[in-house]
Amino acid sequence: MQSANMNVMIKAARKAGRSLVKDFREVENLQVSVKGAGDFVSRADHESERIIKEELRGARPNYGWLGEETGAEPGEDPTRRWLVDPLDGTTNFLHGLPHWAVSIALEHKGEIIAAVVFDAAKDELYTAEKGGGAWMNGQRLRVSGRRKMIESVFATGVPFGGNGPLPATLKDLARLMPITAGVRRFGTASLDMAYVAAGRFDGYWERHINAWDIAAGILLVKEAGGFVETIRGDGPVVDAGNIVCANPQVFPELAKIVRTWD
Ligand code: IPD
Repeated sequence: MQSANMNVMIKAARKAGRSLVKDFREVENLQVSVKGAGDFVSRADHESERIIKEELRGARPNYGWLGEETGAEPGEDPTRRWLVDPLDGTTNFLHGLPHWAVSIALEHKGEIIAAVVFDAAKDELYTAEKGGGAWMNGQRLRVSGRRKMIESVFATGVPFGGNGPLPATLKDLARLMPITAGVRRFGTASLDMAYVAAGRFDGYWERHINAWDIAAGILLVKEAGGFVETIRGDGPVVDAGNIVCANPQVFPELAKIVRTWD
């Protein structure tokens, strides 16, 4: 049984996903003109947010809003807000790489209670509601059962274009690569977390990340049985700007490594 809010979120994600898939087919033809492709993708991103906003705010006009493109708007109900990334993995989309997603989360009193991540290019719809488990296309998700770091594959985001603390992430990589089965940088945080929920990745961390990128992923990982914390290990995760999550077996070691500051 799915809540009325979840129905609204899925409808919005699918509608935005359809619009993005149509635009994604065009992107390849635009690669010759770098500026043209950049402007086109920016329009696709804004159109996706417009569609999602129309659906969500149309259905729940009193909820607050935080969207990557249109920013924060308080609602009459101060306890609830939508957190939306209309196109997570923008760089992948721009380069014709089919790994991007729509991410929608609903927060109530500071806690994420419903989440949808839609990978429209692969038609994979990830959903979770608090206490109701995590799902992908109707199949229940569980985090992986791997216990050994040397068998585990982790995901991260590496700051690019000078937009974050690169040395700390490079230190993480230097510490993790020799003792794990590898680290991936796929470029879409919401899918990195959906993949942790699905047991494809064993964990994920990122040192410089926005609330709209991780809000839905937080609930997906928790509902799939994983642990989610800030890198410092204190306070709520969604607005912290950094995150570490993993299956319960490898979480302590991953967290210990990314919490080493020297
Ligand atoms: C980015 C992606 C990427 C992460 C960056 C985000 P955007 O989001 O999620 O994986 O490493 O930190 O900014 O800009 O494509 O929505």
